[in-house]
Amino acid sequence: MKGVILAGGTGSRLYPLTRVTNKHLLPVGRYPMIFHPLMRLRRAGVTEVVVVTSPEHMGDVVNLLGSGSRMGLDLTYRVQDEPGGIAQALALTRNFVGQEPFVVVLGDNVLGADIGHEIKAFEKQIRSTGSGARVLLKEVHDPERYGVPEIIDDRIVRVIEKPSTPPSSYSVVGIYFYDASVFSLIDALKPSERGELEISDVSNRYASAGTLTYGILTSWWGDAGTFDGLEEANKLARDLYYEELGSEAAR
Ligand code: DAU
Repeated sequence: MKGVILAGGTGSRLYPLTRVTNKHLLPVGRYPMIFHPLMRLRRAGVTEVVVVTSPEHMGDVVNLLGSGSRMGLDLTYRVQDEPGGIAQALALTRNFVGQEPFVVVLGDNVLGADIGHEIKAFEKQIRSTGSGARVLLKEVHDPERYGVPEIIDDRIVRVIEKPSTPPSSYSVVGIYFYDASVFSLIDALKPSERGELEISDVSNRYASAGTLTYGILTSWWGDAGTFDGLEEANKLARDLYYEELGSEAAR
């Protein structure tokens, strides 16, 4: 399975930390933030990965990661000219992905456990039904900060982006599994009120078609895109991957 890392956007919630650098290059534990989603993919055996980022920071991201060979990865890059939303960034990976099901990880998501079993669950879904998408949920105390699923009879009926009255206490985590039909769904999306193509609207297309499944994360998970999230991720991920990467990856 191929992988996608989305690392564009402005990082404006972290200003001034991100005024001259990309959010995904800020430190989380012993490594730049973007190492975390990349290492989760590598550990799950996903080594062919495309990284999407903004034109301002593409040079730094490529300087840091190169071909990916130091991390055991085969990396490709795509530029998102304007921060038009997560779904817009995803659309840029169409030719890289081709026709096969694939996995997407948001560049600011930091996880405490491997996702290999979730990839297997999605592969099984594709084998048995031929199509669909899968999201991961995590119970949180502040769901209004995230995409929140409304769940009826164990099915996600819709996902609401940052609702003022959350319909559940779950957050949709920034890891998504899609079949290749996601690209034509994105073609038909309209920008939200904040002018972005929303990833929650993509989930809603699959939910309406009855082809959206989900798994529940039990390990810790953090979205490092805010000051609180960044601080928490730094504590939780303090020594993550050091045994396996050491300082090699930094050379
Ligand atoms: O972390 C999980 C949450 O991530 C989900 O629960 C939400 O449904 C989802 O919309 C997203 O919410 P955020 O407010 O955290 O999204 P943010 O704007 O921080 O973007 C997350 C990542 O997506 C960011 O690290 C880089 C990438 N991105 C974002 C935008 C807006 C892009 O590559 N391009 C973009 O234009």
